[in-house]
Amino acid sequence: MTQGKKRIAVVAGDGIGPEVIREAVAVLERVRETHSVELELTHYDWGADKFLNEGVTLPEGALEMLTENYDAILAGAFGDPRVPSNKHAEDILLGMRRGLDLYINQRPVRLLDARLTPLRNRVASEIDFVVFRENTEGAYCGAGGFLKKGTPDEIATQEELNTRRGVERIIVAAFEYARAHERKRVTMADKSNVQRFGGDLWQRVFKEVASRYSEIEANHQYVDAMAMFMVLDPGQYDVIVANNLFGDILTDLGAALQGGLGLAASGNIHPGRVSLFEPVHGSAPPLAGKSLANPVGSILTAAMMLEYLGFDAASEAVEEAVRESLAAGETTRDLGGTLSTQEAGRAIALRIEKQS
Ligand code: NAD
Ligand code: IPM
Ligand code: MN
Repeated sequence: MTQGKKRIAVVAGDGIGPEVIREAVAVLERVRETHSVELELTHYDWGADKFLNEGVTLPEGALEMLTENYDAILAGAFGDPRVPSNKHAEDILLGMRRGLDLYINQRPVRLLDARLTPLRNRVASEIDFVVFRENTEGAYCGAGGFLKKGTPDEIATQEELNTRRGVERIIVAAFEYARAHERKRVTMADKSNVQRFGGDLWQRVFKEVASRYSEIEANHQYVDAMAMFMVLDPGQYDVIVANNLFGDILTDLGAALQGGLGLAASGNIHPGRVSLFEPVHGSAPPLAGKSLANPVGSILTAAMMLEYLGFDAASEAVEEAVRESLAAGETTRDLGGTLSTQEAGRAIALRIEKQS
């Protein structure tokens, strides 16, 4: 993407979302000055409060408005105990992922400081891979239904959708990333030993796509084994590709390997189009409003967004500042520190300023 002024829609959302996004925005404000990054931020109040007060989730015309007016979206989290159906989160978050056709959910798993991983005796460089999660179909297609609901004979079906086009484009994205970043291996996780139809499609497409990338090793693991190997031998992974549900589960595990959900970043991407950047974690209701949330996941998410927008130097500066502040122990309580959300965010912003 070319340089120049970029327009960002900010949707802080629910729970800890507003607290962590405030710090990510403060970091963006900082690189605006230190790296002459031209950004225009506009805030939207979509979330549980708006839904409860006005009955509105994703406002009408929002997808067209985002496509026309913005280069990227920075979001916090969606989910609120007052909305047990999770309707607003589904409409807003899954609505943007699907409606904007953001088929790549790119979730890096990178240990920034060896002391943060719960695994014993690891060096930071051992945990460094990227998960490519299919983001528009699979178990998230919303297909299924009830028969005889509420009776002892009730039947609930929950379908999984795998299109040839959808499977191919996420596998291609994983191999393209591996090629561009000189990663030597792509590992696909599936459950093709049980899921005979979808699994078969993923297997066939994986082999076909892999044959076009002869310099990259194509590897396969059943997803249950992968969950084990991610703990026992995370160093074997460069790029992982998985369907929507397996990618969701594996990336919470990946977050734990990095030091916790508070650190994990993600991008929902359709190359060349308005894309959505959000931390991996949710709204964490028990932490909300207490300034306990770790802002680093959101700040690293902002760094991913800066890279997507073509501001590579600013993105690297943010990552370096995060690395330095983690090394210095300037952390929230989830990482054993004593700082509030705001203090941890400020410490990072200050380090960006000192670098320049
Ligand atoms: P969660 O990610 O919100 O929190 C799980 C636990 O992880 C928290 O209780 C906390 O201990 C820890 N944690 C998460 N983020 C943290 C942070 N920034 N700093 C420190 N600790 C952090 O997952 P959940 O409790 O399963 O879900 C809560 C709500 O969030 C639900 O409504 C769920 O649907 C929603 N959710 C939304 C998103 C999203 O918007 N992208 C993602 C996951 C969950
Ligand atoms: C995530 C979340 C979402 C998902 C939920 C909140 C719909 O867990 O972004 O990882 O399952 O994709
Ligand atoms: Mn998740």
